[in-house]
Amino acid sequence: MDLVSIRKSYKRYARHYDATFGRVFATGRERAQETLAPLPGKRVLEVGVGTGLSLPDYPDDCEVVGIDISREMLDVARGRLNGGLPAVSGLCEMDAEQLGFADGSFDAVVAMYVATVVPNPDRLFAEMWRVCRPGGQILVINHFASRQWLLRGFERCLRPLSRAVGFRPDMEFEDFVHVTGQEPATVAPASLFGYWKQVEFRKPAHA
Ligand SMILES: C[S@@+](CC[C@H](N)C(=O)[O-])C[C@H]1O[C@@H](n2cnc3c(N)ncnc32)[C@H](O)[C@@H]1O
Repeated sequence: MDLVSIRKSYKRYARHYDATFGRVFATGRERAQETLAPLPGKRVLEVGVGTGLSLPDYPDDCEVVGIDISREMLDVARGRLNGGLPAVSGLCEMDAEQLGFADGSFDAVVAMYVATVVPNPDRLFAEMWRVCRPGGQILVINHFASRQWLLRGFERCLRPLSRAVGFRPDMEFEDFVHVTGQEPATVAPASLFGYWKQVEFRKPAHA
């Protein structure tokens, strides 16, 4: 995976993304809102915000900033703002592995379906951790390699196509947790049958 192929893939997906993934990812978005609650007064960063499917879920009295590497995905997200989303204070083209925010800028940092898309999940997480304030919350929702042998075999077969499809289908959950260097506070299913998981981290108040 590299930024050129990622941008190329999501340029291709942007127009059809909502119709394809809108409903598929709905449970994960709902779970994220439940876990982030209560949000009023909080400042949230969504990395890899994509077409902004999650943006209407945020209550008006929090502040949300979304970043993404794909201009075309962001264009769709910006279109949503015309409908009026007072919580959204900014949508920026930015690399999640090099965030242009000061340390501890956000109360919560969220990455939905992004960890297997970025070239370096360790750098993604390190940046999410850095910009999260001490005592804040980090949520990662993602698919990890299946435990079911048939599906697992299929995901392995797809690995050589990662650059073309725009994600790595077989990242192991344990490998991801290892690269974060942190212990998750909670791990919960984010879809029926647990195909997607929500991994929540809490940054210690003294960090
Ligand atoms: C599968 S989509 C998920 C979009 C959105 N979070 C959702 O739930 O529908 C992955 C998104 O991550 C973005 N992305 C991939 N690599 C990135 C990077 N290095 N920095 C910022 N965004 C990135 C892609 O452009 C794409 O919009």
